[in-house]
Amino acid sequence: MKKILLIGNGAREHVMAESLKNSRYDVELYVLGGAKNPGIFKLSEEYVVADVCDKDAIAEFANRIRPDFAVIGPEAPIACGIVDMLLELEIHSASPLETVGQLESSKSFTRDLLEKYQIPGNPKFKVFYDEEGLEEFFIDLGEEFVVKADGLKGGKGVKVSGDHLKNIEEGISYAKECLIDSGRVVVEEKLVGQEFSLMSFCDGTYTVDMPVVQDHKRAFEGDKGPNTGGMGSYSMENHLLPFLTARDVNEASDINKKVVKALFEETGIYYKGIVYGGFIITKNGVRLIEYNARFGDPEAMNVLPILKTDFVDICEGIINKTLDQVEIEFEKKATVCKYVVPEGYPDNPVKGEKIIMGKVPADVKVYYASVDQRNDSLYLSGSRAVAFVGVADTVEEAEKSAQNAVGSVKGPVFYRKDIGTKKLIEQRIKMMKI
Ligand SMILES: Nc1ncnc2c1ncn2[C@@H]1O[C@H](COP(=O)(O)OP(=O)(O)OP(=O)(O)O)[C@@H](O)[C@H]1O
Ligand SMILES: [Mg+2]
Repeated sequence: MKKILLIGNGAREHVMAESLKNSRYDVELYVLGGAKNPGIFKLSEEYVVADVCDKDAIAEFANRIRPDFAVIGPEAPIACGIVDMLLELEIHSASPLETVGQLESSKSFTRDLLEKYQIPGNPKFKVFYDEEGLEEFFIDLGEEFVVKADGLKGGKGVKVSGDHLKNIEEGISYAKECLIDSGRVVVEEKLVGQEFSLMSFCDGTYTVDMPVVQDHKRAFEGDKGPNTGGMGSYSMENHLLPFLTARDVNEASDINKKVVKALFEETGIYYKGIVYGGFIITKNGVRLIEYNARFGDPEAMNVLPILKTDFVDICEGIINKTLDQVEIEFEKKATVCKYVVPEGYPDNPVKGEKIIMGKVPADVKVYYASVDQRNDSLYLSGSRAVAFVGVADTVEEAEKSAQNAVGSVKGPVFYRKDIGTKKLIEQRIKMMKI
């Protein structure tokens, strides 16, 4: 029997909970989340609703249940040192310590790390601690630039020229805002190409890659509208993407490996957990957009449902630095994930309204996120509501299943029909050829 503490309450954590419960071990799941997730609740032995950064609440719960290990879903608890606190209680986690978690929580840390250890993938960039040289660097970059607040901003800290910033003046003033806010800002060249996510399991020295996935950040079809937490994603049965070659994926995989090695050289601490590289394939090859120190959401729902290996073995391999002894395999299946979200999401989402789910096809998996369940009815609670994942031999079939399911939800919601469709994928391939 394995007692496992899971922290977080989104659809990512729902699929993580499902994978842990699918283990050959008899798993008892103890969950702490900011809200009660009906899907995770059903899989849990005990479910505590508390802030995922509340050290006292987590310490009290962890000391009471004494889990065999812990797994952290979202980034905030990693950045505020929950893994470090649990380690002081002699509870190990398949998630990174705060120091190496800077891979996500500090954009400047990561850009500097790649530069210092001569790891390829950085765009032209500069970290500013004051306004000196700021204007000159913007002029040097021209109209194509990106300004990044250094710390965690829930996906709202990055502003891209052309999308969020009209001209250099707006860029400079946002950079100054960031300097006032955190004393540090990253300004970098704007890269053009197709983004993809390469997540790797990591035990501090050894990494194992998952199939690459493409997320869709923009709220509306055709990649229009504001950035969101991600409206959905797809992966292919060959574990590549239509606009990527195996060589491109190897280039990204190599960067993940080198970064893990550099993290230990730089900090003396092993990075244990998920290394989530946000990459972009450009005309000049693979470049790094950012790192996250956890599974992606939605990307976790593309990789974990097709994982053939026992997820408990992988977590213990990460913790015990024996990941190279775990044979990790994924099914050769395509997956399409589509989120249904409240009207007005991301800026002004409808809350408290009832939604009704239609009949969900057998080959579709359902993962709950920001919904409340009362008397068997579901109510929107303000962010991405429910994710539907089609799993099939081809992306066309997987897309059809996911579309049937997401299309059957009734209520004040919307979703992106185009995710995983032939038309959108062809547009992406074409875009890379221009
Ligand atoms: N150098 C760049 N060139 C072009 N686009 C960029 C660049 N950096 C960031 N972006 C765009 O901005 C988005 C968000 O940037 P980034 O991933 O660094 O921030 P984040 O807030 O940490 O995002 P997330 O919530 O996905 O972790 C990227 O997905 C990409 O679309
Ligand atoms: Mg990020």
